Amino acid sequence: MGNVSSDSAELDNAGMVQVWDGQVGRDWVAEQDRYARMNAGFTEMLLAAAAVQPGERVLEVGCGFGAVAYRLGELAGPAGEVVGVDVSGPMLEVAAERAADLAQVSFRHDDAQEGDLGEASYALAVSQFGVMFFADPAKAIGNIVSALRPGGRLAFTCWQDMSLQPRIVVPAAAALTHIPVPEMDQDFWGLKAFSLADPQAIEDLLGHAGLADIRIEPATSPEYLGSDVADTVEFMRRTEFGQLLFADVDNQTAERGWDAVATALTDHQTSDGVYLDGAAWLVTARREPA
Ligand SMILES: C[S@@+](CC[C@H](N)C(=O)[O-])C[C@H]1O[C@@H](n2cnc3c(N)ncnc32)[C@H](O)[C@@H]1O
Repeated sequence: MGNVSSDSAELDNAGMVQVWDGQVGRDWVAEQDRYARMNAGFTEMLLAAAAVQPGERVLEVGCGFGAVAYRLGELAGPAGEVVGVDVSGPMLEVAAERAADLAQVSFRHDDAQEGDLGEASYALAVSQFGVMFFADPAKAIGNIVSALRPGGRLAFTCWQDMSLQPRIVVPAAAALTHIPVPEMDQDFWGLKAFSLADPQAIEDLLGHAGLADIRIEPATSPEYLGSDVADTVEFMRRTEFGQLLFADVDNQTAERGWDAVATALTDHQTSDGVYLDGAAWLVTARREPA
């Protein structure tokens, strides 16, 4: 999957684009309602921090299937404009259908790191978990900042460290009572989701890109995982994280591991579904006025 550069053993940009434009994008489309519900708490925090004003021109980076773009469009109103940029064709197809009746929202298939996002065109750039996958984060953030007008705002969420995510740690710890700790391939694209886990690295990245008023706040939210334990386990079994966890064990052992995951999830079942916390950084900053 993707191209692995020989010296750094990291996915290059084209490789990561290929991931999202291919099967991973299709998987997200298949689970679009689950993912939208999963991140709904973070969406509200992000929208509050972004404070979109009617009439503003807004860039959304890594807009996926458009759940946030649609909300941004409502807040910007008919006098505003929201442009969602993403590299995933399958997700953008869904996004375009969703926004069909909201004229101020449009979508572009483009790479936020390498593409032309325009110069000083937007009052605000927003991203919900869409800024961690760049091969060259400095270049990508620089590109996004260039697209902001002087004084323009940036607001995004990104994940804290994987070890701080109950949504991952609770099922993984249960599974590990039956299986050895798997050797996680550092090339695995999914680990990039945690590439901005270090708040100092975020501050350095944004500072070097010429942003000021940088605020990095911890944000936690219960994440919807499934309608019940069985639905959640089925979902987890389909994910690459789930498959990698059990990659090195025989079927019987894997089944015992999944049973343990199900038992652990039972404690987190509510009348509304299974929830476990996610831990993010809520980041805001501003391009220096001219
Ligand atoms: C974790 S998903 C989040 C999607 C959406 N923001 C949401 O919250 O539902 C990350 C998104 O970033 C997009 N992405 C990854 N690399 C990108 C790049 N270089 N330029 C634009 N979008 C990118 C992916 O295609 C994917 O839609």
